[in-house]
Amino acid sequence: MNKKTIKDVDVNGKRALVRVDFNVPMENGEVTDDRRIRAALPTIQYLLDHGAAVILMSHLGRPKDAPDPKYQLDAAGVRLSELLGRPVTKLNDTIGPEVKSAVMAMKPGDVILLENTRFYKQEKKNDPGFSEQLAELGEVYVNDAFGSAHRAHASTAGVTDTLRPAVAGFLLEKEIEYLGGALSNPGHPFIAIMGGAKISDKISVIENLLSKVDGLLIGGGMANTFFVAQGHSVGKSLVEEEAIDTAKKLLAEYGDKLILPVDCTIAPEFKADAEAKVVPVDEVPDGWMILDIGPASIAHFANRLNGAKTVVWNGPMGVFEFPRFAEGTFAIAKVLAELDGATTIIGGGDSAAAVEQSGLAEKMSHISTGGGASLEFLEGKVLPGVAALDDK
Ligand code: 3PG
Repeated sequence: MNKKTIKDVDVNGKRALVRVDFNVPMENGEVTDDRRIRAALPTIQYLLDHGAAVILMSHLGRPKDAPDPKYQLDAAGVRLSELLGRPVTKLNDTIGPEVKSAVMAMKPGDVILLENTRFYKQEKKNDPGFSEQLAELGEVYVNDAFGSAHRAHASTAGVTDTLRPAVAGFLLEKEIEYLGGALSNPGHPFIAIMGGAKISDKISVIENLLSKVDGLLIGGGMANTFFVAQGHSVGKSLVEEEAIDTAKKLLAEYGDKLILPVDCTIAPEFKADAEAKVVPVDEVPDGWMILDIGPASIAHFANRLNGAKTVVWNGPMGVFEFPRFAEGTFAIAKVLAELDGATTIIGGGDSAAAVEQSGLAEKMSHISTGGGASLEFLEGKVLPGVAALDDK
């Protein structure tokens, strides 16, 4: 990575203003998945161990540009404090005189968590005045929010207009090294696996990856549109009519690299306990829908993955939220877990959740904490939150 990291600056006795991505799932006021908080710990711990006072800022959810109790960061602060084993002072505002005086009174080793940056509409507008008020809080800026690095917001980008040094945290560095390494210098064979509901969300990623990979396996709902492009009937499966031409074009151009399922698990309705049966992809009856890849596809995909040296996986193979239709997704996780000497990189969002659920997360080289961010990175886009940091 060509950006400076926290190891390149002296943080001793300084106030480090750190953008983290604590946009975590919540239920009844509790954090239900703390992966993103845990992923930020090495950076926070390093700064504390090296004599800094740490001021954390994050967004949570998509509040309507104003304070909303549902999106307060208190529960994330409680979880962070448990994980760090030290107090975390959660403030009820993001900027302003009270925040400033609390921050100015900090001593090395103190941790403050500011309120949700998106309670101010200026955050998403990357407003210079708001950015400056954030910048005043720190003496060093650290971005460890890979999951938000595709946003050019005040806390991810604008703040660096007035606060330098601006450096990467360990999580941001690790994400860029894994994802960037796969794009720029992958071990071959390099196989990508794409799934999820829609092609349209991932078309640019597919196109960028097709120019680099040795094979691209397609599963999930997006495979249906390819089946239609091949002339198969898919019953009442989800199909993106407007993407059929794109699918045809990709098949014509990259037919040798695109690997599609050969059979599928179908059901007459979208329900966890729906009747399920396996059919070849060209025999889906009317009134049925494809909800997973079938056993022959799993074997076919496993065969293509055999010997791979780099694998990037984004998007589940089926409706893995329903155990009956999770087999394809979990089987692919198992194949990846058993690959010998391969770098296995899991995109964020659903694929990360699926790998966690499969119990095989520890066996993967890297599970990204970024959903949209990892997709934009794999598309080959420059992420504003990374671009804003000091060059090495
Ligand atoms: C994410 O969950 O992908 C990030 O936290 C970014 O959230 P956003 O899509 O609301 O900007």
